[in-house]
Amino acid sequence: MSKLRGDYKTVWNSLSGSKQDAYLYVSGYTDEDKFHADGEDTVDILRETVGVKPDDVFLEIGCGVGRVGRVLAPFVKEWIGCDVSANMLRLAGRRLLGLGNIRLQEVSGYDLRPIPAASIDVVYTTVVFMHLEEWDRYNYVLEAKRVLKPGGRFYCDNVDLASPAGWAVFEESRLRFPAGERPAQISKCSTQPELEAFLKQAGFSDVRVAGRLDFWAYAWGICPARG
Ligand SMILES: C[S@@+](CC[C@H](N)C(=O)[O-])C[C@H]1O[C@@H](n2cnc3c(N)ncnc32)[C@H](O)[C@@H]1O
Repeated sequence: MSKLRGDYKTVWNSLSGSKQDAYLYVSGYTDEDKFHADGEDTVDILRETVGVKPDDVFLEIGCGVGRVGRVLAPFVKEWIGCDVSANMLRLAGRRLLGLGNIRLQEVSGYDLRPIPAASIDVVYTTVVFMHLEEWDRYNYVLEAKRVLKPGGRFYCDNVDLASPAGWAVFEESRLRFPAGERPAQISKCSTQPELEAFLKQAGFSDVRVAGRLDFWAYAWGICPARG
């Protein structure tokens, strides 16, 4: 397997060669009922932050096997799941069979090039920034702004280094994996100020940040009208 964190396609295809591995690397477990319940929790957060409306076209960056899409798609006009891994998308296709308003799109790992500008109402990414280099996180924030319609909404999250449980994640990895032995996909935390800076630098308006369960940092904002 590639040791290079930024070689996202190789790394994530090799982590999702089987359904069991894909589930484990998406969530840490394989129980479909828990998967569904966690998807409902994420949709609740989206409702509380960016909102979920029946006419919305939603796009998820790093959709995995469609944990969130399966719960969200029935409430929106269209759900587009983008992922760097063809294996993840193949499994997502099977899980989402029967949902008529979903589309799956393989992406390079660095941008949303197949998606036209100003075509999406809500872009979100969850449980993905922790696996990306900081620069690639920000590139996706910029890409989200490009594909959003004016007034469109963006949401992102990561484990919060400044929270008690986030700090525990950091320490666990530091002690377990010495330099040179760190898995390419190892989780790296953010902070609320980092996410806020990314959204503000990208030009989002009404930027808000919050924390949850002493573990998550999340940020959301509005895509301004093009000037
Ligand atoms: C931990 S899983 C989370 C999946 C999904 N968001 C969820 O919450 O169930 C991370 C996902 O991000 C994808 N991914 C990793 N790097 C990516 C990148 N650079 N661009 C797009 N997707 C990426 C992986 O293939 C994987 O499906």
